[in-house]
Amino acid sequence: MEVGFSLFLLSGMLMCGLLLRTVSQYGAHVDGPSKKPNFIVILADDIGWGDLDVNQPDKKANNTPYLNLMAEQGLRLTDFHSPASTCSPSRAAILTGRYGLRNGVTHNFAVGSVAGLPLSEVTLPQLLQKAGYYTAMIGKWHLGHNGPYGPTNRGFDYYFGIPYSNDMGCTDISGYNLPQCPPCDSPGPQVIRLKRGVHGGCYSKVGLPLIENSSIVEQPLDLWTLTEQYKSAATRIIQNARERGQPYLLYIALAHMHVPLAPPLPPDVSATASRPDDGKVYTASLREMDDLVGVVKSASDDTDKDNTLIWFTGDNGPWEQKCQYAGSVGPFKGKWQTSRGGGSAKRTTWEGGHRVPTVVYWPGRISANTTSSALLSGMDIFPTLLSLAGVTPPSDRRYDGIDATNIFLHGERSGHEVLFHPNSGAAGTFGDLQTVRTGKHKAFYITGAAEACGGATGRQQLHDPPLIFDLERDETEETPLEVQTPEYQAVQERIARRREELLWDIATDKSVSAADYTTDKSAAPCCDPRHAVCRCHPLG
Ligand SMILES: *[C@@H]1O[C@H](CO)[C@@H](O)[C@H](O)[C@H]1NC(C)=O
Ligand SMILES: *[C@@H]1O[C@H](CO)[C@@H](O)[C@H](O)[C@H]1NC(C)=O
Repeated sequence: MEVGFSLFLLSGMLMCGLLLRTVSQYGAHVDGPSKKPNFIVILADDIGWGDLDVNQPDKKANNTPYLNLMAEQGLRLTDFHSPASTCSPSRAAILTGRYGLRNGVTHNFAVGSVAGLPLSEVTLPQLLQKAGYYTAMIGKWHLGHNGPYGPTNRGFDYYFGIPYSNDMGCTDISGYNLPQCPPCDSPGPQVIRLKRGVHGGCYSKVGLPLIENSSIVEQPLDLWTLTEQYKSAATRIIQNARERGQPYLLYIALAHMHVPLAPPLPPDVSATASRPDDGKVYTASLREMDDLVGVVKSASDDTDKDNTLIWFTGDNGPWEQKCQYAGSVGPFKGKWQTSRGGGSAKRTTWEGGHRVPTVVYWPGRISANTTSSALLSGMDIFPTLLSLAGVTPPSDRRYDGIDATNIFLHGERSGHEVLFHPNSGAAGTFGDLQTVRTGKHKAFYITGAAEACGGATGRQQLHDPPLIFDLERDETEETPLEVQTPEYQAVQERIARRREELLWDIATDKSVSAADYTTDKSAAPCCDPRHAVCRCHPLG
């Protein structure tokens, strides 16, 4: 039966090639513009929900004028979440539309990681590339830099940026960080500096590399000119794609607002001062980021304005332990946690760690000056862009993102009915479903383990029954619902059921990947191993 049907189809296709083409042209005509839209995704690093001026109008700050303008000309999403609260898992979920429990990326890759995002995973750029898109990426990859794991082997035609975080390697002139990291080649026991570890320590053995396609073009790179280099690369990519008349995906994963910060400083803050404070460095850096966004927006507006969707968001909340160099969580203070010690932003599932400033802009298609409180996630970028490009993702695996097209274009209000936040900080259970959102309710199964400014780390705690907060009444997440109340019972039952359903769905997903987190010194990107810190050219 099935064979006969396909044979019939095949012969039909052979005979009707001409007819098919006519039909598809006709289809394009009735469905609207046949031109595929361009996509620019800008992902800020460690940005706080409160860093976007228009998220906190009462503060009357003016640090993000271009993003404010983009919100005024587009749609601001107020309940948009990063898929995880650290770098690699968040980025992996954005590019695959799947939770870390499926794509295998549950914590960060290292300088010496031999692998990365599992090769069995299908990425957004791969699918768009196949559909005729030019795909380019600028900035931080952090999904494995070695051989087949690099961006140009995972769907990007062009890549220019840093293989991992900007604090994972020394530079000749350090940026602002806490602790302040020494420049490359500075005397002193490197071993001790290395021992301070991944969180808050300084990597000093390998210079921070700048990579184009799959080659190191500078090592160590110059932090202080990186923004200008990103600006020119973005402008060039947008203009060239326009000249070729090819639709494009440009993914810009900014170094901002991750430490070390290297902002153009206002005159009253000197780059040599050891502790310039009052958030001036952070603010200057925020303005620099906003300016970069403005340059990208005007390059797009000057070329293919009505046919380009720009999506600005963040990879996770602020890195609180960096004190004056960390962003603002706005009203989402995670008071239950902070009153017990410990951070409530990056590496946690408190709102401060997950809710990220997000704006989508598409003149003529997305209504100007609108906001939506639909519950959405960075995982939705994958299905939404594919849907707008008319591409169907492979059906041999399951996805967790939802297509937000109707929310963006037609004012539909409902986003995810249920959204899970994986554990990105508590040891031993990386990737586990730590927290569950449904409507205004949020349930925690694990809390703690992230460092606050000053060094206090909240004790990791399991909660059974879970802590449940009502975010509408209590956005600071201070007082959980009483366990005995009918409200609590109803929410807990619902959440527990949905959690079981998801775990079953993952267990029966035919394509679940496991990431290889093995490290080896030889895997570190190194321009020339004969020179200290892998420098491309000896200091002259
Ligand atoms: C990177 O690849 C592009 C083609 O996609 C090419 O034009 C460019 O020269 C390459 N750059 C380097 C440094 O290899
Ligand atoms: C945008 O909306 C706000 C509040 O709804 C309003 O005050 C403002 O004037 C609007 N801006 C424009 C440019 O329409």
